[in-house]
This record gives sequence, structure tokens and C-alpha cells, in this order.
Amino acid sequence: MKSQDIRKAYLQFFESKGHTIVPSAPIVLKDDPTLMFNNSGMAQFKEFFLGNGTPKSNRIADTQKCLRVSGKHNDLEDVGFDTYHHTMFEMLGNWSFGDYFKKEAINWSWELLTEVYKLPKERLYVTVFEGDEQEGIPKSVEALACWKKLVPENHIVFGNKKDNFWEMGEQGPCGPCTEIHFDGRSEEDRNKVPGETLVNKDHPEVIEIWNNVFMMFNRLKDGSLQPLPKCHVDTGMGFERLVRIIQNVTSNYDTDVFTPLIAKVEEITGLKYTPNTQYPIPNTQEKTNIAIRVVVDHVRAVAFAIADGQLPSNTGAGYVIRRILRRAIRYGFTFLDTKEPFINKLVEVLANQMGDFFPEIKSQQQLVTNVIREEEASFLRTLEQGIQLLENVMVNTSGKEVSGEKAFELYDTFGFPIDLTALILRERGFSLDEAGFETELQKQKARSRAASEVSTEDWSVLIPGNVETFVGYDQTENDVKITRIRKVDSKKDGILYQIVLDNTPFYPEGGGQVGDKGILVSANETIDIIDTKKENNLILHFAKQLPENVNATFTAKVNTDLRASTSKNHSATHLMHLALRTILGTHVEQKGSLVNPNYLRFDFSHFSKVSDEELRQVEASVNTQIEAQLQLIEHRNIPIKEALDKGAMALFGEKYGDSVRMIEFGDSKELCGGIHVKNSAEIWHFKIISEGAVAAGIRRIEAITGDAVKAFYTNQENTLSEIKEVLKNPQDVLKSVASLQDDNAKLKKQIEQLVKEKIDGLATSLVSEFQDVNGINFLVKQVDLSMSATKDLTQAIGTSKPNSFVVLASIEEGLPNIHCYIAKELVANKGLNAGTVIRELGKYIDGNGGGQPFFASGKGKDVTGITAVLENAVNFLK
Ligand code: SER
Repeated sequence: MKSQDIRKAYLQFFESKGHTIVPSAPIVLKDDPTLMFNNSGMAQFKEFFLGNGTPKSNRIADTQKCLRVSGKHNDLEDVGFDTYHHTMFEMLGNWSFGDYFKKEAINWSWELLTEVYKLPKERLYVTVFEGDEQEGIPKSVEALACWKKLVPENHIVFGNKKDNFWEMGEQGPCGPCTEIHFDGRSEEDRNKVPGETLVNKDHPEVIEIWNNVFMMFNRLKDGSLQPLPKCHVDTGMGFERLVRIIQNVTSNYDTDVFTPLIAKVEEITGLKYTPNTQYPIPNTQEKTNIAIRVVVDHVRAVAFAIADGQLPSNTGAGYVIRRILRRAIRYGFTFLDTKEPFINKLVEVLANQMGDFFPEIKSQQQLVTNVIREEEASFLRTLEQGIQLLENVMVNTSGKEVSGEKAFELYDTFGFPIDLTALILRERGFSLDEAGFETELQKQKARSRAASEVSTEDWSVLIPGNVETFVGYDQTENDVKITRIRKVDSKKDGILYQIVLDNTPFYPEGGGQVGDKGILVSANETIDIIDTKKENNLILHFAKQLPENVNATFTAKVNTDLRASTSKNHSATHLMHLALRTILGTHVEQKGSLVNPNYLRFDFSHFSKVSDEELRQVEASVNTQIEAQLQLIEHRNIPIKEALDKGAMALFGEKYGDSVRMIEFGDSKELCGGIHVKNSAEIWHFKIISEGAVAAGIRRIEAITGDAVKAFYTNQENTLSEIKEVLKNPQDVLKSVASLQDDNAKLKKQIEQLVKEKIDGLATSLVSEFQDVNGINFLVKQVDLSMSATKDLTQAIGTSKPNSFVVLASIEEGLPNIHCYIAKELVANKGLNAGTVIRELGKYIDGNGGGQPFFASGKGKDVTGITAVLENAVNFLK
């Protein structure tokens, strides 16, 4: 079976068992602050297990794109070294929400594996939870009884809490599980060592393929287990491993999930990948194999994350994606000798391979390719610079060991990989203080851990079973009761309370729009709501304090001033989106959006700078739509298909239900959950304030509307008046500024000429001041020039005589600077080094600096040290 067919067969099987098939949720999570990426099929259903909200069917199945690269489940460092861990993988899953339980789940999994996929029964082993006294959970007798009817007893292995009790995190839904393992060893090996002894022992050929979790508890903050209102089934089967077994190969990378990608890497690099069957593998070949596995694995994770809307960046999820890509670039650079961007070329292969089932990778192919290419180019530059910096570090290191601090600086500030540092140092006969590096790394980790520490209490539920309704499209004020409260203590925000209401007019942050602020008012007290956010199906209202009487009836009041400004910016964003697509073309797609009361920010795909003329046209188009007084038409609950047929724009990476909300203003139609003006005329006016690049092929526009535009023009007017005043109120301001610029340019030229003459003059007169010290032409002097002129002068004098050793110092803007020139023959024959001279002399002026052995410069903070510099320079010659 081809991998495509294996996936299809899974979904068809569970459809035949009454399951609704749903698409994979985006790989990047948007409304779960506890998780960056989907790391298992069940993540998107978490709240259903806990009883918050109802799924659209009690039986669901899908294949979910997962990423296990951060938090509790992190496989990143294993990837490449073994043949069965991945950053991105697909997890096939079937779920029962309070419907069927152990018996059906176990029987169906057996039926699918042995009758549909026809896996040999004798190679399958299962594990059953042995119980845990401390937790007070008994052995899973029901699961055991089910398995006993299907497999011989020596194929059943009991497992403890570590292997057979699945938890998604420190807190949250959990339960005992039963796993299915496959023994892929040769007959001979199987006869020697029985398979059951190798289950869950990290044997590369006896591997887990399917986990059936029976969700029965919620793990609370204090570590205790609270029974869930209903029992559920959550299963997850690693798609790539399943394919490997069915295709009868011994490595996931030898399946058709990876072979087309590997073939492309081979074509680009001219190197060969040896499949897992070819033993023994020589050392250099093994390095090539590892690097190729890293590249073909990582490109999938990065490409799908970008297609789902997560660009590489310097923070959060974007940083994780950047690090994955950099790991691949770095393996390519060192072991595949790829010094030019090449990973982006794999995207086409991936799109052809997976585009049928995951259309996002096909439709975003161009963008994904461009973003990866740009990231590659920029990191390759970093690697080159890093290598240069490392050269300097070696030159300036007195012994043969480079300090951990220096290596850490390269790693932390320039993103230079530590293993590459170690490798280069080794090749050059240097060693690295690895323990020192580790200490620095741990210090930094501790700092960032401390900064992001969050302690979340369990919910205290005041009104159980309530499902909150959002009334904020029609109201900004309503009577409410508090249904649950949770305290969260974080380093970043201090103590905050999250309050859930029975219904709420507060809009929770989402779709780019910030959350509402406002107040909760009861007869006796008023509580400020400082933000509103969504967590899965709950709307959380954030407050710095709790009301004294949490059981009172409150009026929830949204701050309508802020909301009015925000809604103007949100509606203007839609109008601008349409204008961009009309003026620049329909390749423009939304890639990010922020809408707050002050301004709007919109990122979109477009491959060149938006010209001033185009920006003017976009502005004019939006303002025409504003003037046309377009009435808001809101379809609150329209089937998604109907909305798309009407031409509504949907976003990749967004999770839509079967029915959606659609917002229309004239020709602008978008699927959107946000808050809008009732008529476009309310926006008053639209003004773009900036345009620029965010990443390759992604532009960003920032714009303002309404009162912010008025303030903007008032500000402009004031600035103009001030300029006029400074220029003594000329008749024509423009002309006056132009003539100032002219004068300035002329003066600059004159100064440059004068400085050059001064340097030439000094160079000639200083030649007579050279002294002979041990046969070396030595000159040391303080001059009255700028730093850059002193630098030029040092070189000019240094080259005017053979065997020269020149040190010049000067002061610029109150700070000392020093320069050293050493003739090449002295560097070669006497082992003198300008870098060392500057480093040593720099100590007198509280400074630092460096350069090359024949020329180096430094800057300091203490001018009083110049005398000591001048006195001590000669010591280098003694
Ligand atoms: N939640 C379980 C897992 O991720 C089964 O889906 O392994």
C-alpha cells in the first residue's frame, strides 16, 4: 500500500464505524495559551473531555499534523539520529466522547491492523496498565479481558504509570492506556529473544505504533486526580511508523513518505543516502545519512507551519520554527557541504506529494518556498560571519582553550551553533571550555524560566455545567453571573484572576482583534476587566482583583470608546484587504493581522515593495468605500460551503466550524468573528502610515482610522509650523530646506578635503619622529583628529616605512580611541600581533577592541589612561 492509501483506509474504516471524519486542525494553535503546537490528535478536543462544550459528533476520526518540539513532549534532538522520531508527524486518531469505550476501541484497532492492513498477528504485542497503588487506580482488567480474547497471553505486557498512563501535561485530562507494538525483527532474532521482553525498551525495531487512551480523570494542580463527568476514548497512531511496517522496511525514512524528498536532496548535493538495510555504514556515510534525515524531516515541519500561518521569527512559536530550520541548514552546511540555500527546493516535492490531502501546502507553495529560501540565505550569512568571529576569537585567545563565555556569546548573540564552534576549534587545534559553556547556557535557561514562570490554580466552579454564551455582537452590556474563577500567578503579569461568566458581551482576543476591556459592576462594587481572551471554548476575563461577593449579579460593561475605535480599524482592515487584492492582485492573502484601538497592522503575501503610487491607490480605494456608506451585512450562522460559494475569503491556518460568520461591506466578504462598524462611513477616514517587509514575500502595512487620523494631521501641521519657525518663516519651506541640504553637501566635501590634507601633512611631518628600537621603526603619538581620521593616519604612517610599529591615539567626543599598525614582516618574524597590543593597551583606557594581526583598533571610556598607553606601547618591543 502507498502511504496515501494507508491514510485513506484508516479514515474509511472509522467512517464505517459511525465516525465523522474531520480535517486536521492547524499545526499551530491559536487559542490555547498552554500549548504552542498541536502535539497530539487530542489537543483540539481537550475541552470536550473536561466537559466544556460539545463536539459535533460523539465519534470523530482524523489525521492530525503534530509537532513535538517544545514542552512536555519534545523529540527534536533525537531526530536524524534514529529512524523513527520526527518533528512533524501525522497522528491518525479516533475519538469517543462519552460514547463507546474500551471494548469497541480495542476490537476495532485489532480489526483494522490485522484485517484491513493485514499485519501479521504474531508480530503484534500489547501493553496493559498494571495499576498504581499510590494514585489509587486499579489494574485495567477490562482492557486485559478484551485483549485475552484476541492475542495469546505472552503477547500482553503490563506497564506502569510511565508507559501506560497518558497525560497531556502537568494538568489536564488523562487516563490509563493500552498500546500496540510491532516487532519488525528478523525471524532469526525473534527466535533468539522473545518480542515481549523488548516492548517499551527503546529497541529500534520493536516499536509502539498505536496508543489507545481511556480518558477518565482530570489531573489537578495539587497532583490529585478528579474523575471526569464521562469516560472517553482518545487514540493516536503514528502514521509514518505504520507506513514503515506496512511497506515492510526498517526505517521510516525508507517509506514513500520520505523517499521522494531524499531523492531530491541526493540530486541537489550529489551525495547518496544509504537505506537502513545497508550495513555496516562507514562513519562519514552515517554522518551524511543523519544530515539527510534531519533535512527531509525538518523541511516538513517548517513548511507546514509556514503554510498554517506561522512565520519563522525571534519569539514564541516562530522562534521554534526558526530553530528547527536552522538545525537543518546547519547539518546541510557541515555534512552535506551545502553553502547555498537548497532546502526551499524540497517544498515543491512535498507539495506534489502531500498536496492532495493537505491543500494548504499546495496553495501556499510559493510563499513557503520564498520564506524558507530567505531564512536559509540569512542563516548561511550568519554562519559565515560566525566563522569570521570565531577566527578573531582564536587570534585573541592567549592559550589554546576558548572560554565558555566567548562561545556562549557567539551562540547567544549571533545564533552560531555550539557544535559547529566545537568542530571548527577542534580542526584548528583549539579546545573549548565545554563546562564553562554549559554553565552560561544553564544560567540563561534559568533566567528565561524565571521570567516565564506561571503557576495556575485549579478552577473553582461556582455554577457547574454552564456553557457560556457570547452576546457581544448585539450588546456591550448585560447582566451576568460568575460561573468559575481561577488564579494565575506569573512572573510577567503578577497575580491575575481569570473569570468565566454565564454569558458575556466581552469580545475575547481573536482574529487579530484585541480583547475588550471594561468593568463588572454589582450593587456594591466595581471590578476592572483589563483583558479578555479565549482558551479553547472558554472566554476568560482578566482582573487584578476579585469581587468580595463573587455570587452577586453583575452588569458586565464593555468600554465602548475603545471598542468603537477597534471596530473602525477592523472594518477598515477588511476594506483594505479587498483594495490590496484589487490593486496588487489576487495573490495577496492575509498572513497576520493586529487590530487594536490605536491602529491596524496587516501582513500579506506580495513579492515586491508596494510602491508609493500603489499605496496611494489603496488608500483612495478604502476611502471611496468609506464614503460609499456601505452597510454592514452580517451572516451570523451560515454554512461554510455557502459562504465560500458567495466568495467569502477564508484564511489558511484558521480552524472553521461547519457554520461560520461572514461579514460583508459592499464587495468585501470575509469569514470573521470580529466586531465591526454598522456602516463604513463610521470609519471617517483611512490613512496608511507605513509599509515594509516582514519576511521574504510578506509585506506589512500599518494604518489608522477615525480620530487617530485627525490627530495625525494635527501633528503633521504642528511639525510643519515648527519647521517654518526654525527656518525663520521663509516664503517657500521646501525651497529653503533644499538649499540647506545643498549647503550641507558642499560643506561636507570641503571638510573631507581639509581632513585629507591634514592627514597627509601629519603623515609627512611624523615620519621624522620614528625612533629605532631594536631595529624596529617605532612611533607612538596622540593626535588631534577624529577616530576614523586617526585610523587612516595610522595606516598611512605605518606603510610609509619598513619594519614599522605605530600606535596612535586620539579623543573623539570625550572618548579615547587607539590604533596599532605592525608591518607584515614583524608579524611574520617577531610574532607581534596588533590585536594583542590593542587588547593589552585597551586596559589603560577601560576599553576593548580588536582586528587583525597587522592592524587593530580599540575604543575606551577613560581618557586619563591615554598617557599610560603612550608610555607602555614601547614595552611590546623589548
Ligand atoms: N493522546 C495519546 C497520544 O498522544 C493518544 O492519542 O499518544
